[in-house]
Amino acid sequence: MSPVLQCRGLRKTFHGSVVLDSLDLDVAEHEVVALIGASGSGKSTLLRCVNLLERLDDGTIHLGGEHITDPRADADRVRRQIGIVFQAYNLFPHMTVLQNILLAPVRVHRRARAEAEQAARTWLDRVGLGNRAGDYPDRLSGGQQQRVAIVRALVNNPRLLLLDEVTSALDPELVGEVLSMVRELKGDGMTMVLATHEMGFAKQVADRVVFLDGGRVLEQGPPEQVLGDPVEARTRQFLSRIIEAGRL
Ligand SMILES: Nc1ncnc2c1ncn2[C@@H]1O[C@H](COP(=O)(O)OP(=O)(O)OP(=O)(O)O)[C@@H](O)[C@H]1O
Ligand SMILES: [Mg+2]
Repeated sequence: MSPVLQCRGLRKTFHGSVVLDSLDLDVAEHEVVALIGASGSGKSTLLRCVNLLERLDDGTIHLGGEHITDPRADADRVRRQIGIVFQAYNLFPHMTVLQNILLAPVRVHRRARAEAEQAARTWLDRVGLGNRAGDYPDRLSGGQQQRVAIVRALVNNPRLLLLDEVTSALDPELVGEVLSMVRELKGDGMTMVLATHEMGFAKQVADRVVFLDGGRVLEQGPPEQVLGDPVEARTRQFLSRIIEAGRL
């Protein structure tokens, strides 16, 4: 079966310094891939390139067989198929939960409001926030706001969901509710790529862990192998620092 996401030879530089370096990555349908690696290794940049928020210097990305980094590709149409959620949930404070969720589908993707609203309310119900649709974000906890941000990313029924450190801005007691939502999405068969510093999260949800080092894939495999018995010295070094910090 051909992969949902296929990245080939990705190269990205910022002001002459190489951030992604001949990076290849395939993600199969229903697969959950966790990106790990030191700060600055390129995890966020990779996710932003996949979502066409950054332009590549070289390489190609295919989504569902379509060449999305082709300059002729319609970026809005591509982004409709990719949900992305960032560390800071970025909800607009002057808009209600429902207005935040409907902004992109109705204004950008021109979906019929009633139909998009139905999808939004179904998702909010599922994640236990059905009664919060009319609230402003500051009335919600960080965990609830992050779940709203994930719903916002899901409302277009994306083929691929990208999660960038979705738990790292949360108080520890709120992390669990976001993790269980991600686990539920995995149960639904959602294809996901997530960047995380929480190895426990990677271990629990990922089918495959990919270790990035200097913008390259240095090592990848099942979580038990990469996190438990890594092959590469640099992976071992990274994990030992994580263990010292009490995060594994
Ligand atoms: N818009 C930008 N302009 C200039 N440099 C950038 C920009 N975005 C990222 N970088 C640089 O690219 C490198 C990779 O950054 P990136 O955010 O992808 O790393 P990361 O693996 O997500 O790190 P972290 O774990 O801290 O989130 C860093 O050196 C960063 O400073
Ligand atoms: Mg990052």
